[in-house]
Amino acid sequence: MTRRKPDELQIAIDGPAGAGKSTVAKLVAERLNLFYVDTGAMYRAIAYKALRSGIPVHDETLVSELAQTTQVVLDHSNERLVWCDGENVTQAIRSPEVSRAVSSVAAYIGVRQRLVELQRLEAARGGVVMDGRDIGTYVLPEADLKIFLTASAQERAKRRWLELRKDGKSVSLEEVAQDMLRRDRQDTEREVSPLEPARDAIMLDTTGLSVEDIVAEILSLTQEG
Ligand code: CDP
Repeated sequence: MTRRKPDELQIAIDGPAGAGKSTVAKLVAERLNLFYVDTGAMYRAIAYKALRSGIPVHDETLVSELAQTTQVVLDHSNERLVWCDGENVTQAIRSPEVSRAVSSVAAYIGVRQRLVELQRLEAARGGVVMDGRDIGTYVLPEADLKIFLTASAQERAKRRWLELRKDGKSVSLEEVAQDMLRRDRQDTEREVSPLEPARDAIMLDTTGLSVEDIVAEILSLTQEG
């Protein structure tokens, strides 16, 4: 690969929930000194705002209007805070309520157009590692490297459950697995930018692999000509 200069590289990491995208993307960005852009956090921020404002997440018109007027900012400090209309929502957007609402919100074309515009602006600032569902297929079709991360459904649910437990949230593994499957189905079956690998994506099954193994694999792919 490597057509752009090292500090202008664009790396797209897509895949289903719990495949390890954000953990891996963050580390790859740090090692290569690129920006990390968590596009899922942006969709989560809109879902959070709708819930907070009492807007029904099934109302496409109202949610799309909300997305046009909501300011979502990802800061690039080490803390990687997420701001929504001046409120620090970094923790709040990870709640089970937001996780359950986010895929409905993310299916609306008005919401996607607005957030994709912000994502492309981020990429215009310099090299990026961007993770999401449609980065390789739609947001950055000319990315230098496209990775599609997967893992068994069981392992993905377990990883997410451990994360939630670490954050002090008490949910059963079964509940996490069901929510995740429902969200993956919604993301895969939606009409606009569904979750699917780009034709030129490299598939990486991370079942049983350590974070370090996956990061090393991606870094080595960036070296290949
Ligand atoms: O971290 P996790 O895999 O649970 O999900 P996320 O990356 O935070 O994304 C949350 C949700 O946002 C996804 O389930 C999708 O519905 C939506 N999303 C999307 O539609 N397109 C993206 N580029 C990123 C996220």
